[in-house]
Amino acid sequence: MLLHQSTWIEIGQFLERSRTVVIPIGSNEQHGPTGLLGTDWMCPEIIAHHAQKNADILIGPTFNIGMAQHHLGFAGTISLRPSTFIAAIGDWVHSLAGHGFEKILFLNGHGGNIASIEAAFSQLYAEASFARRPAGFALKLVNWWDLEGVSALAHKQFPTGHGSHATPSEIAVTQWAYPEAIKSAAYSPQIAGSGPIREALDFRARFPDGRMGSDPGLATPEKGGELVALAAKGLAQAVDTFSREQNPS
Ligand code: NI
Repeated sequence: MLLHQSTWIEIGQFLERSRTVVIPIGSNEQHGPTGLLGTDWMCPEIIAHHAQKNADILIGPTFNIGMAQHHLGFAGTISLRPSTFIAAIGDWVHSLAGHGFEKILFLNGHGGNIASIEAAFSQLYAEASFARRPAGFALKLVNWWDLEGVSALAHKQFPTGHGSHATPSEIAVTQWAYPEAIKSAAYSPQIAGSGPIREALDFRARFPDGRMGSDPGLATPEKGGELVALAAKGLAQAVDTFSREQNPS
């Protein structure tokens, strides 16, 4: 079930049978010469939207702007500051918790978001801790590549040239969902170099075409479809486990 395609009446009915909601979360940032700017929010969205076709789970709107300051040297990238991102996650959680959602699972598509999502969770829990009251909700961060079996499959599909940014696995997922948007380019070198992540100008100088350690030319829509099918199954499982988790009080 998709929240944005539901009415408030339908969400009220859903709350009678489940208190769990999934929020796909990512980033809008350059993904090399052939990767779509939306890759990091599209991947969790594609997986979550696929998962809800075969499971009674609720998927919220995609939180699609994240921690991308280091990619701002490339056109089309949009970033929040960590403080804005953390505050916005807080407002999303308070909105959903106010309606009665007790388990909020963020399905993440961008490694650079992890630290700030965890900081947002700490901030939200701290509000309850300092007030000596229960939070009333539990939060969970799951990266789509950490869903059951997914990184093993990606490793098997792409034994070399996977890298860490503009990876063939994430590009394959978007190719499967949006075949009309597949791009091609000649890569030089075929597998990009690796290095540290700092500010935008440093990043652009270190990684001139935007890739990090990857060969996106290995991506195919078929491989993307295999990843989506496995990840969607893993997400349904993760939602089920999280939903069953007992509250101590
Ligand atoms: Ni990415």
